[in-house]
Amino acid sequence: MRALRICGGRPLCGSVKVHGAKNSVLPILAAAILASGVCVIHNCPDLTDVDAAVAILRHLGCRVCRQGETITVDSSTLKRMDIPDGLMREMRSSIIFLGAVLGRCGQAELSFPGGCELGPRPIDLHLSALRAMGVEIDDTHGSISCTGTPRGAELSLSIPSVGATENAMLAACCARGVTTISNAAREPEILDLQRFLRTLGADVRGAGTSTVVIRGGRRLHGGEHRVISDRIVAATYLSAAAAAGGAVELQGVERRMLLPVLDTLREAGCTVFGDEHTIFLRQRGLLQGVSPIRTAPYPGFPTDAQPMVMAALCRSCGVTVFVETIFENRFRQVPELLRMGADIRVEGRVAVVCGVPRLHGARLKAPDLRGGAALAVAALSSEGESLLTGLHHVDRGYARLERDLCALGAEIQRITL
Ligand code: EPZ
Repeated sequence: MRALRICGGRPLCGSVKVHGAKNSVLPILAAAILASGVCVIHNCPDLTDVDAAVAILRHLGCRVCRQGETITVDSSTLKRMDIPDGLMREMRSSIIFLGAVLGRCGQAELSFPGGCELGPRPIDLHLSALRAMGVEIDDTHGSISCTGTPRGAELSLSIPSVGATENAMLAACCARGVTTISNAAREPEILDLQRFLRTLGADVRGAGTSTVVIRGGRRLHGGEHRVISDRIVAATYLSAAAAAGGAVELQGVERRMLLPVLDTLREAGCTVFGDEHTIFLRQRGLLQGVSPIRTAPYPGFPTDAQPMVMAALCRSCGVTVFVETIFENRFRQVPELLRMGADIRVEGRVAVVCGVPRLHGARLKAPDLRGGAALAVAALSSEGESLLTGLHHVDRGYARLERDLCALGAEIQRITL
């Protein structure tokens, strides 16, 4: 079994470049289905979720080749419109292929995407948006069977769902007429998807705001795009430096994508500054507890950063309250943090972290993607050695966690137990 062996207690110093964003490259790979020509996508991170998306594209008949961080997709050879259970279960966000396959083929057959460690991951908003676009959907037999070419519609999402916004955008590109998505998700990854779609010739506007407007029906050609950097990977590295102390510089990530996290780390006592595409963080001594952290849709505090910031604040003076409003099961890192000597009490969607002066290394098991990253952060600020297993979760979203942390001076290596 593979594990990360982490010896804590060393400050982090140095500079790393943050790799491309998982939550941007996945919908962009799905969107490549809509292009009649070849799409060349740069800055694609080497992640198992990206492997799963490539496997789905190849199953559909697309020609895909990867050279380093560049993925080339030729969907002119697409010949299927079904995604089987095995592929759907590989990656929870495979539902993002629904809008693209349906838009391209006028029908789609997907098995229900699994839930995940964060709890049930409903897709009611995805399906109601497509039904509002005139698509017939039978979701009564454990699979999702869609027929009909979408038509333009006025959509209003009850929750600013990232995936539902993306699925509606992709279906709307192929719809006859204009689609307006109100209460759309505003994440930077949505704006990156819009940039890619406009490169293909689509008429999409408003991404990054709560209202996205798509004038569909255009024939989309191929194009070239560079994926934005991963803001959650950046938040992970900043949390690690805040927890372990030291001075780090992150290159290639836009500060404005992480403002709530930067504000929290400053309040905890870190010195944080930088320019458009660089973030610099310096920390000495113990972190301070901060005012309550309440996760929210962008531009609020990102739920994906909550576990790593919690891990950093376990070793602090003061108390920090976390309120998790997005997912019902997103404190799964807590039992493992308690094994390291953390003092955390969880009541439903509220976690109270009472900072302690020191943590100790332990044998740890990643409960999910960001929970695993959180445990690595805590191990870096602990005394002694930790062994982190469950790396299949971590490898879904981090292309080179140990390599980058090593470059920052951490004592961490991947071993076989
Ligand atoms: C995306 O998931 C991200 N994944 C998640 O990142 C991220 O945590 C999440 O957005 C929130 O920012 C990708 O982009 C691949 P949602 P998504 O639809 O689209 C409820 C990571 O760690 N909801 O915005 O699945 C849902 O239950 C992952 O990188 C419905 O009720 O999230 C949740 O409570 C984890 N019905 C809330 O909305 C629906 O039809 C937000 O979910 C859809 C969602």
